[in-house]
Amino acid sequence: MHEIKKLQLPKEIIPSSKEGNGRIILRIPDATFENAQIVFDAVIKNKEEFRKWLPFPDKTNRVEDSFSFLLSVQKGFEQNERGEYFIFEKDTGDFCGIAGMFHKKAVHHDYWEIGYWQIKEKCGKGYMTEAVQALEKFLFENGVNRVEIRNDTRNIASANIPKRLGYHLDGVLRQTGYAPYFNDWCNTNVWSKLKSEYRQKD
Ligand SMILES: CC(C)(COP(=O)(O)OP(=O)(O)OC[C@H]1O[C@@H](n2cnc3c(N)ncnc32)[C@H](O)[C@@H]1OP(=O)(O)O)[C@@H](O)C(=O)NCCC(=O)NCCS
Repeated sequence: MHEIKKLQLPKEIIPSSKEGNGRIILRIPDATFENAQIVFDAVIKNKEEFRKWLPFPDKTNRVEDSFSFLLSVQKGFEQNERGEYFIFEKDTGDFCGIAGMFHKKAVHHDYWEIGYWQIKEKCGKGYMTEAVQALEKFLFENGVNRVEIRNDTRNIASANIPKRLGYHLDGVLRQTGYAPYFNDWCNTNVWSKLKSEYRQKD
């Protein structure tokens, strides 16, 4: 019998060099105007790329929209159902992006999904791969059995992350939604890693 316990999400995760390269810090952002400005500036600057794959950039028009997002991050964190972390580069303290873990729970469903975005200037360094590794480590070491990552089949950079980390491609969900950017349907890759597979890698 697998016992499912409620997780206590950490406010901060500092990956060590053993777990990744130890080049980043993950921190739950406080809902402040300063943090809202950071998210807002990042989304506006990267809007053209982000809106291909994510729905929120088209709904981000004012800094207040990012502030509302941070309020929902705080609520999800307090309920231990959603941990959305700012990623900072250790060397510079620069903001890089966001990596989040989301509890998915329904009848016969109990798993966590990881999602992410990163500003263009910080791409290509392996930071997001390291962030995802840190989140999955927390989840598996706290009793979670299944971690899932989903991405549009056209999103090669996103798919490369679960691929690089040894996730299994469970399959492709067909026409899961309409992508205005492509003026076409989205097909969604579903990647998973199980606790037993994470252990085998240790
Ligand atoms: C998805 C996204 C986060 C991927 O960013 P990324 O920079 O490719 O991912 P990482 O930070 O893990 O970096 C990996 C890259 O750095 C390179 N790299 C350099 N040093 C590295 C290191 N030490 N470790 C791992 N990779 C390293 C890798 O080779 C890879 O580059 P490549 O794809 O050209 O081979 C980014 O493209 C993005 O934010 N896109 C828009 C939003 C989005 O699509 N979100 C996901 C929705 S499902």
